[in-house]
Amino acid sequence: MCGIVGYIGTEQAAPILLDGLDKLEYRGYDSAGMAVYDGEKLQYAKARGRLKILRELTHDGAKLPGVCGIGHTRWATHGVPSDKNAHPHFNEAESIAVVHNGIIENYLKLKKMLAGKGYKFASETDTEVIAHLLDYYYKGDPMEAITKMMHRVEGSYALGILFRDHPGELYAVRKDSPLIAGRSAHGCLIASDVPAILKYTRDVYFIQNEEIVRMTDQELAFFTIDQDPIEKQATTIEWDVSAAEKAGYEHFMLKEIYEQPRAVLDTLNPRIREDRIEIEELGMTDEEIRAVKRLYIVACGSAYHTGVTAKYVFEGLARIPVEVDLASEFRYRNPILDEGTMVIVVSQSGETADTLAALRMAKEAGVRVLGIVNVVGSSIAREADNVMYTWAGPEIAVATTKAYSTQLIAEYLLAMRFAKARGTVTEEELAGMLLDLRRLPQQIELLLDHKEKLQRFANRYVAAKDVFFIGRGLDYAISLEGSLKLKEISYIHSEAYAAGELKHGTISLIEDGTLVAAVLTQEDLYKKTISNMVEVKTRGAFLLAVTNEGNTAVEKAADYVIYIPQTNKYFTNSLAVIPLQLFGYYVALGKGCDVDKPRNLAKSVTVE
Ligand code: G6P
Repeated sequence: MCGIVGYIGTEQAAPILLDGLDKLEYRGYDSAGMAVYDGEKLQYAKARGRLKILRELTHDGAKLPGVCGIGHTRWATHGVPSDKNAHPHFNEAESIAVVHNGIIENYLKLKKMLAGKGYKFASETDTEVIAHLLDYYYKGDPMEAITKMMHRVEGSYALGILFRDHPGELYAVRKDSPLIAGRSAHGCLIASDVPAILKYTRDVYFIQNEEIVRMTDQELAFFTIDQDPIEKQATTIEWDVSAAEKAGYEHFMLKEIYEQPRAVLDTLNPRIREDRIEIEELGMTDEEIRAVKRLYIVACGSAYHTGVTAKYVFEGLARIPVEVDLASEFRYRNPILDEGTMVIVVSQSGETADTLAALRMAKEAGVRVLGIVNVVGSSIAREADNVMYTWAGPEIAVATTKAYSTQLIAEYLLAMRFAKARGTVTEEELAGMLLDLRRLPQQIELLLDHKEKLQRFANRYVAAKDVFFIGRGLDYAISLEGSLKLKEISYIHSEAYAAGELKHGTISLIEDGTLVAAVLTQEDLYKKTISNMVEVKTRGAFLLAVTNEGNTAVEKAADYVIYIPQTNKYFTNSLAVIPLQLFGYYVALGKGCDVDKPRNLAKSVTVE
């Protein structure tokens, strides 16, 4: 996963490219580069490391003068992060420049073919074959070279392409990697994602698979792979550019943690009419809902964790069997997708390669697919039969917080809708649940008010070696997320365990002072989990407990307790996650980690 940008117009290109790359760094940040046409040649600069190194190298773009250019921020897949492997990549004559997001799956075969024809390779990347392949097919017509190249390459790509001999033009194509285009008063732009161009235009064109964009300083034209022109409608982006900026917070992650009450409300509100839940976008009648015999929830990372929560909620409320699958497993395990099966894919970005592949597999099997997606117009949103948007707004920090919280809300609403259609809960129970749902934003705010307390506690654990999170049922689901939050940003090893399972091996890792965070929000399981807490306490563990207000019994076993407000038993994850997010954040902050951009990670994972 990488980010690409391109600009052609009347302004200097390099500063615009740097600005766009800055908004795309969440997609990868191990190296960056740009190529700009200076009136004679394609000049370029690339550097291993963060974008700021490229900024310094080019004196904020001043060293690359010109009004047409492409840029790239990289998350290495083929070839280590290095200056040499950074994009753009070129043909030997440096007359064709390419930036690429995606993976060319048959690059070895193509490389062999091209090497046999005398082409020399300067990098270890898959992308470089595109530059040489374009050179191979280029006979004076860029469109012809591009379409021929598209017929030869397999895999996924969003490409920005410059031909030195066509200086007034910039080309872009996509297949299975996101790409958008837009026009401002001073030129045309392409990018991997909306925030990169939002400063220049709100009217955005979403490029579909195997479409080609040709831009001049004034004109934006779209073509099929057969070079037939396409008419496209722009989508007006409603959210503001400030939504993708830090607004005074030290990190995007903290800002996004604080945006959760609003995000939860925005996801709830459009689906509550008076005292009823209405999910129009589900597009299913009661009868169709009743015809569903089994649900699969398929996702990756934190989105998968919301699926684990949703399994308990759907099964408990709607009494329907649910299987939760990691998308990377689901797609290769030949799942039973027969009549009566429905698949729900959950994704913040809507671009995660494995989740998208799982969706396609389900659709091919003729099964109804609902997408729960945050990014409007993303691939999953477009390809799912129905889409339920989470209204978290743009999420920039790599570690998800507000998108996770809104995914939970969407899943609660769906489970309640299913329960109603299936007659497994009474109107009265549903009304009570709605009241609890509506209270969540305020309760989240209350929990956020205790951030100093959590910061003090977190500071004691910056040197921790291992941390364990334990819980039963829904509390196990939240433990998974708490553990991931901590380890991904603080680099402290942590694991989540079903509380009853720890003793089957992993308990041998407990030493004097090891932190064990126990989550106890399910009243019927309090006693069971307390027993498990005692098991680790007697072996030296330090016990943090997250539990419901009123469960003072836990204080017998816990060394430190965080209370969450009372809510319906199915919604507790929405509250318990808040202290766990803050804990992870403050441990990482205390350790001096790069909270928003943890090492080795990327926000949008568009590779398998
Ligand atoms: C990456 C992110 C995670 C996210 C996962 C799935 O690993 O760092 O925060 O949960 O991808 O992404 P998606 O966009 O499909 O929700």
